[in-house]
Amino acid sequence: MNPVNHVAIIMDGNGRWGEKYKNSRNAGHKEGLKTIEKIIKTSIKHNIKFLTLYAFSTENWKRPKKEITYLFNLLENFLKNKIDDLYKQNIKVKFIGNKNFSNQLNKLLNSAEKKTLNNKKLQINIALNYGSKSELLIAFKKLQKTKFKLNEKNFVKYLQTKNIPDPDFLIRTGNTHRLSNFLLWQLAYAEIFFVKKLWPEFKEKDYEKIIQKFKSIKRNFGNINV
Ligand code: IPE
Ligand code: IPE
Ligand code: MG
Repeated sequence: MNPVNHVAIIMDGNGRWGEKYKNSRNAGHKEGLKTIEKIIKTSIKHNIKFLTLYAFSTENWKRPKKEITYLFNLLENFLKNKIDDLYKQNIKVKFIGNKNFSNQLNKLLNSAEKKTLNNKKLQINIALNYGSKSELLIAFKKLQKTKFKLNEKNFVKYLQTKNIPDPDFLIRTGNTHRLSNFLLWQLAYAEIFFVKKLWPEFKEKDYEKIIQKFKSIKRNFGNINV
C-alpha cells in the first residue's frame, strides 16, 4: 500500500459547470469553492499532509477582466472569512506563484501564511499566479548566482516548493488531459488521474476512490516490477 502524503489538484471545469447550470462562468467558480472545502475535509480524514491546489495560472491573465476580478474577489473573501477556521483546524496555508499583486492582496496572503505558519495537521499550497516554466527559470537563475553546484539536490532548494515533498498523485477534473504548466518538475513521478467530472461536481467519494486506487498501484520509479 502506497502512503499518501501529498496530493496535487488541477481544479478544472468551473466555467463549463457555471455556464451549463447557471448561465454564468463566475457562478461555477463560486460553486467550486464548496468542492475545495470538501476536499480539505477529506484530506484531513485520510491524514494527507500536503494538498496543492491550482487556483490561477500565469496564463489565466488572458481571460476577460470581469472573470479575473471575480476570481480574485472570491479568493479575498474566502481568506477573510475562512482563515480563522483553517487556523483552528491546524491547517497551514502557503501560496506558491509570483506574489506580485496589489499591496492589499499581498498583505492578505502574507498574513494568512504568517498566521498559520506553525500549524501541523495539513499544509495547503495554493498555486496563484503560478507557472511552472517561470518557477524553473527563476530557480535556475538564482542557483547560477551562487557558488553551489548545479545538481538536483541544490536545484530543488530554489523552487517555490522548497521543503515540500513531491506530489504522490495529481488529479485533474474537467475531462482535459494536460498539465497546463503545473508543477512540471515536481510531478516527474506522480501518478496522474484525469477525471471527467467538472470541479463543482467532484465529490468526496470520487476523491476517496482515487485515494484507494492510488494506494494499490505498483510504483516502480524506474526499477523493474518485482
Ligand atoms: C478552473 O476552471 C478554474 C480556473 C482556471 C480559475 P475553468 O475556469 O478553467 O473552467 P473551464 O475549464 O473553463 O470549464
Ligand atoms: C488550469 O486550468 C489552471 C487552473 C486550474 C488554475 P485552465 O483551464 O486554465 O487550463 P487550460 O488553459 O485549459 O489548459
Ligand atoms: Mg479550464
